[in-house]
Amino acid sequence: MIDYFKYAVDAEGICTLTIDQPDSTTNVMDQNFIDSFRAALERAIADQAVTGIILTSAKASFVAGADLKSLEATLTTKQDAKTLFDQCWGFSSLLRWMETAGKPIVAALNGPALGGGFEIALACHQRIVADVRSMVVGLPEVGVGLLPGAGGTQRTLRLLGVAKTLPLLLQGSQLKAEAALQAGWIHAVVPAEQLLAEAKNWLLAAPEALQPWDRKGFRVPGGSSPQQPDLAQLFMGTAAALQASTFHNLPAPLAITSCLYEGMQLPIDKALRVECKYFVKLNLDPVAGNMVRTVFINKTQADKLVRRPAGIETRKHVKIGVLGAGLMGAGVAFGAAQSGIEVVLIDRDQAAADKGKAYSETRLRRDIERGRSTPEKMEAILARIHPTTDYAQLKDVSLVVEAVFEDRGVKAEVFAQAEAMMPADAVLASNTSALPITGLAQSTQRPQNMVGLHFFSPVERMPLVEVIRGKQTSDTALAHALDFVGQLRKTPILVNDSRGFFTSRFIGAFINEGVTMVKEGIEPALIENAAKMSGYPVGTLSVSDEVGLDLAYKGAVQAQADLGPEHKAGSSVEIITTLVVDHGRHGRKNGKGFYDYAADGSKRLWPGLSSIWPLLPKARQPDVGEVQKRLIYAQLVDAARCMAEGVLTDPADGDIGGCFGVGFPIYLGGPFAMMDTVGIAQVVAECDRLAQTWDKERFAVPQLLRDMAAQGKTFYGPNRILAPALQVAL
Ligand code: NAI
Repeated sequence: MIDYFKYAVDAEGICTLTIDQPDSTTNVMDQNFIDSFRAALERAIADQAVTGIILTSAKASFVAGADLKSLEATLTTKQDAKTLFDQCWGFSSLLRWMETAGKPIVAALNGPALGGGFEIALACHQRIVADVRSMVVGLPEVGVGLLPGAGGTQRTLRLLGVAKTLPLLLQGSQLKAEAALQAGWIHAVVPAEQLLAEAKNWLLAAPEALQPWDRKGFRVPGGSSPQQPDLAQLFMGTAAALQASTFHNLPAPLAITSCLYEGMQLPIDKALRVECKYFVKLNLDPVAGNMVRTVFINKTQADKLVRRPAGIETRKHVKIGVLGAGLMGAGVAFGAAQSGIEVVLIDRDQAAADKGKAYSETRLRRDIERGRSTPEKMEAILARIHPTTDYAQLKDVSLVVEAVFEDRGVKAEVFAQAEAMMPADAVLASNTSALPITGLAQSTQRPQNMVGLHFFSPVERMPLVEVIRGKQTSDTALAHALDFVGQLRKTPILVNDSRGFFTSRFIGAFINEGVTMVKEGIEPALIENAAKMSGYPVGTLSVSDEVGLDLAYKGAVQAQADLGPEHKAGSSVEIITTLVVDHGRHGRKNGKGFYDYAADGSKRLWPGLSSIWPLLPKARQPDVGEVQKRLIYAQLVDAARCMAEGVLTDPADGDIGGCFGVGFPIYLGGPFAMMDTVGIAQVVAECDRLAQTWDKERFAVPQLLRDMAAQGKTFYGPNRILAPALQVAL
């Protein structure tokens, strides 16, 4: 066992247990942690000289929570319920023993305490928190498909009552020190330098080593009977709201609610076992494993720029250029200026460039109104954005992001003007949504400097950037482009060049399938609801309207022009063309698309759809499950093709890109996680059936998937598949 706990007892009998995991910047709760925690506690409780215990950390944070790598391994391999229960109960019962062992114990939280770390604090008799900027406490487990399994649900319930606990746990709230104090989750906030002294003072006052719930006559605040009218109503409302928001695709929120419902009626010892039982249940559900891997492990690695080519010095971008101050250019300029980077923002005329800068001002004013920023900060950010028409100002930038119209000619024109002024080693990045980067690079002087940086709208809120490597893109340009994404604190995925790269192609498969169903006479409302029931944030037709039917139409025309008469347009192009060309329906932007949009912001499906594409009779409408399958499997096939073609070289890029960029249901963990969960052979069989029933081409699986099925391979796990292009391209 490696000991993570430093043990010190002072002259007044106060024992300080300092958590200090060796060779690590944080304390994570792995097996060594649990074993050494147990040993340290047993020693302190048995030590006659010790009258009280302070639990604190030597790191910047208190405890960073579970060791997610081993958690992923546990969650994604077959486990038996008994072993899992014993593990969970082992730790939960240790905390229960700690709070009932008879010696007062105070958690001195010097830095953030989330998840398991905060559960430890909740089992202490007193929680004192240092007033540091980074401080947050909370139980965010729901975000990765889990629940707090070491007493977090039961102790919060007994401290705060059901009504306050439900939102904290269902939203996985992370509270700053002051908010946690207000909520009653902690006892005191003190200056950092006084933290240990305050903890000691509390112990020296000889407090009783008893939790509120162990006192005689304890009652859960606000009541503990589900028959109590206000609580009955609360649970009914919560259950209904969960059904409406998750369609029961996410097991964790329901399990948390059940823990509270059952737990409030039980004594704490029994209630803790109930919590443990639900924790195990979630562990056995693939949702948690897939969410942990995609949301935490893969995303964290991507954030650390794991795909950055090695051996190239990091470039800290101090000044960049942005070409085109429209929706996207203005957003990129805002993000860069917020990250401390100077931005030359160029458009065709000064007014357009100024308008791009004004976008930042509007956003910042809103932030000030909401108390998230100050006028001084706003001024500093705005002072970094230099709107102009003068390309000469690009003479000392290290990177330029192009975000002008999606038109090859216009892009070539601005590339030429920029390249004439930019330093020879600056990166030229295009924010095109679909035009292949290799083709765009042909119109430049230095194609090796060209890379795709595909941002998503609205830039300030969307965490993903798809980084596209063209055929000639150099490792240096790629590395420096990734450095920029890192400075923006966004999550990059790395893909190889192709029309639509990964994300536009991938969402295109979803849109294409849904729109095609309209032509087949399937009820539009059925198509929309099937998507929402599957966990997509919006329906297919809605998303088409948001993107713009005119844009989709222009993209199709461009693809046909680029690829020649051999190219077979997608099955939805005919419908989009009819709507745009014959009916002037461009989507949300002109109030007319698949939906009609009213001035008050409401919308309803356009009744005219069924006059153009008559509905199938009721008896021939497919059931909702079949519509859901078509939408999801169309995307699975496309993801598999992207891997087979080497557009993707690692399933993690596809899963992160799908979930964080284009709304693939996050509880599925992404298309590759889903294929592994369903089983590759099963996916192939389902696609073959869909191909037979609906369309041979759209559901044709690539050979890669058949080979994987035959060989029993999975995308993740010990046989993790990496496309051959990884060796070629990276
Ligand atoms: P937009 O129409 O809002 O902005 C384009 C801007 O470029 C306008 O301000 C226009 O005046 C300027 N511009 C046009 N020609 C110019 C020239 N010759 N010199 C200087 N400036 C010029 O377009 P948006 O939506 O910002 O899109 C820009 C690019 O980003 C396109 O390639 C688009 O495909 C891509 N994109 C768009 C997304 C979206 O959600 N709107 C998402 C991801 C990528």
